[in-house]
Amino acid sequence: MSNYHIKHLEEYYQVYRKSVRNPEAFWEEIAEEHFLWRKKWDNVLSWDFKKPEVKWFEGAKLNITENCLDRHLATRGDKVAILFEPNDPKEEAQHITYRDLYHRVNQFANVLKSKGIKKGDRVCIYLPMIPELAISLLACARIGAIHSVVFAGFSATALATRINDSDCKMVITSDGSYRGKKTIDLKCIVDEALEDCNGVESVLVAKRIHSECNMKEGRDEWLQPLLDAASDQLTATVMDAEDPLFILYTSGSTGMPKGMVHTTAGYMVYSAYTFKNVFQYRENDVYWCTADIGWITGHSYIVYGPLANGATSVMFEGVPSYPDYGRFWEIVEKHKVSQFYTAPTAIRALAKEGVEHVEKHDLSSLKVLGTVGEPINEEAWHWYDDNIGKRRAPIVDTWWQTETGGIMITPIPYSTPTKPTYATLPFMGIQPALMDEQGKEIKGNQVDGRLCIKFPWPSIARTIWGNHQRYKETYFSAYENMYFTGDGALRDEVGYYRITGRVDDVIIVSGHNLGTAPIEDAINEHPAVAESAIVGFPHDVKGNALYGYVTLKETGESRNHDNLRKEINQIITEQIGPIAKLNKIQFTNGLPKTRSGKIMRRILRKIASKDTSNLGDTSTLLNPECVQEIMDNAL
Ligand code: WTA
Repeated sequence: MSNYHIKHLEEYYQVYRKSVRNPEAFWEEIAEEHFLWRKKWDNVLSWDFKKPEVKWFEGAKLNITENCLDRHLATRGDKVAILFEPNDPKEEAQHITYRDLYHRVNQFANVLKSKGIKKGDRVCIYLPMIPELAISLLACARIGAIHSVVFAGFSATALATRINDSDCKMVITSDGSYRGKKTIDLKCIVDEALEDCNGVESVLVAKRIHSECNMKEGRDEWLQPLLDAASDQLTATVMDAEDPLFILYTSGSTGMPKGMVHTTAGYMVYSAYTFKNVFQYRENDVYWCTADIGWITGHSYIVYGPLANGATSVMFEGVPSYPDYGRFWEIVEKHKVSQFYTAPTAIRALAKEGVEHVEKHDLSSLKVLGTVGEPINEEAWHWYDDNIGKRRAPIVDTWWQTETGGIMITPIPYSTPTKPTYATLPFMGIQPALMDEQGKEIKGNQVDGRLCIKFPWPSIARTIWGNHQRYKETYFSAYENMYFTGDGALRDEVGYYRITGRVDDVIIVSGHNLGTAPIEDAINEHPAVAESAIVGFPHDVKGNALYGYVTLKETGESRNHDNLRKEINQIITEQIGPIAKLNKIQFTNGLPKTRSGKIMRRILRKIASKDTSNLGDTSTLLNPECVQEIMDNAL
C-alpha cells in the first residue's frame, strides 16, 4: 500500500528519500489513493520560483467539502466530527456528527447562495470559537466562495483593513463572544468597522451571548432563522485544483498585513497527509488543537486536515484559565483526548500555576502532544513531557507558517527520537536549506543560517491577495530559486533542525505574529508622539513581549508619562487589538539612527533584553550620544 501512514524511523527515511527524489510521483500517489476527485489532474506540478508560480494537480476538479464530509457519510455518518466544548463547563458539550455537520454546512451554504454569494466572492468571517465558525468555512468552500477569517480579537480598524483589502461582500459574525468571565460585543466592533467598508452588502449574525445589538435594516440578519428555513441538501460546486480556497492575513515586517492565498487541491492533500502522520491519528482517537480558527493552525488542524481524515476534532470556545487553570486537563479527561496540540505560551502560562491543577485529572488517554507557533524553551518542553505526557506521549514540535499551509519540520511521533527545542526533521517532500547572508547555501551539519525551502510542496501559498509583486519580494527575492521563510535555524550533528526565531521585524508574542511597522504607525498617531521604535524582549510566559521607545514632540514633554503610556496602548488596542499592547514604554530624547536615517533596532533590542555588554559597532551612528541616555533610563 501507499506511504500514507508512516510508522517508524526507517520508514520515514525511506519514504522521505522517495518524496524528494521524485516529488511528483510521490504526491501523485498520495493524491490518487486518499482523496475524492471529480476529475483527476492532467499535470501534477508546474513551478517557477522566479515568477513565482506554483501549480499542483492542474486540471483536476474537486470540492474539498466532499472530501471532508460527503465521503464519510457511508462509513462514519454517526461518528463525531466536531466536539464543541463551550466556555462555561456547566453548558453541555455538543457532539456534531459527520451527518449533522454535512446537513448544517449545506444549510449554511444555501443561505450564502440566497444572499447572492457566488463562486470566487470573498466572505469575511469574524466569529468566536463556536460551531458556526467551522461550519461557515466549509459552507463557503462548498459553493466556492473564498473565506477570509479574521481572528475575533482584532479591532474594528484591523477588521476594516482586511475586509477592504480583499473586497469582501459579506461578513459573518455573532452578537458577541464569551472569553472566560468576560463577554465581548463582536457585532458592535463589526458595525464600527463597516463604517469604512462600502463593499459589504450583507451581514449574518449568529446568536451566542443574547445581547441586544443594532441590526441595520437591509444589511444585517440573524443567522438562525435563515438556516432553519434552508434546505440541508446541496451539491457542491466543482472547483479547479488551483481555485482559491481561502485568504488568511498574516503580519509582515512592513506595511499592510499580507492576505495569503491558499488554493484547493494542494492545500487539501498536504493538510490531510500531515495531519495523519504528525498526529498518528487512528479511527477512534479524539484529537484536540487549542488554536483559534482565526489562525492558520485552526484552518489546517482543527477544520480541514482532521475532517479530511474523518477524525473527531475538539473545538474549545474558552480560555485555559477559566474557571481555573485546570480547564485544559479537565477537558482532556472528560473527552478522553488522544492528541493534544497547543502553543508554548500556553504551556508556560500553565506551568507557572503549578502541577496541582494537572494532578487532579486523568491524562492517560494522551498519546501525542504537539506544539506550534514559536520556539519552545527547554524548561517548558520538559514540563510538558514530565507532567502532561508523563514521558509516555512524544512531543511533536511542529514548525510551519501561515504561508506554508501545513507542518513542514516535525518529528513523526513514535518514529523520530525527539530532542527538546528541536523541530527535528523535514516532513515528506520538504527540502530545507540554510543560507548565509551572502546568498550561499551552508551545507553539512552543525551549522546555522537562514531557513529556506528549495522545492515547492503542495500547500505553499500561491500569492498575496492583490499584490503578487510583494509576494515575490517577500519570499522569493532574498535567495535565488528559494522560498525564504524569514526564520533563522540551526542544523545539529544528525541533521535535526532547531528554529531560532525570526530574522526580520516580525515579533512573535504569545504565538501571534506582530509586525513592528503597523504598531509604530499606530503609536505615531498620538498627537504628542514624534517617533517610535518597537522591539521584542524575552518574556517568561509570552516568549517575547513588546518594548517601545518613544520620542515626544516638544508639546508632549511635560505630559504625565503614565497617562501617555495608557493612551499609547489604547491607540494600539483600537488600531490593531489588545494582543499588540506594549509591556514597556520608555520615553527618550532620540532613537539611534544610521547615517541613512534607519533606526538601529539591533541596539534597541539589546537594551530591551538587558544584554548591553557588547552593543557592537555604534560608531556609524548619526547620534551615538542617545545610546547612553537610553541605557541609563532603560526599564
Ligand atoms: C514561528 C504558525 C519555532 C516561526 C503555524 C514562523 C515556530 C512563524 C514554530 C509562523 C516552531 C512556528 N518553532 N518557531 N515549532 N512554529 N514558529 O504564520 O517564526 O502564525 O515563521 O504560523 O512562527 O507563524 P504563523
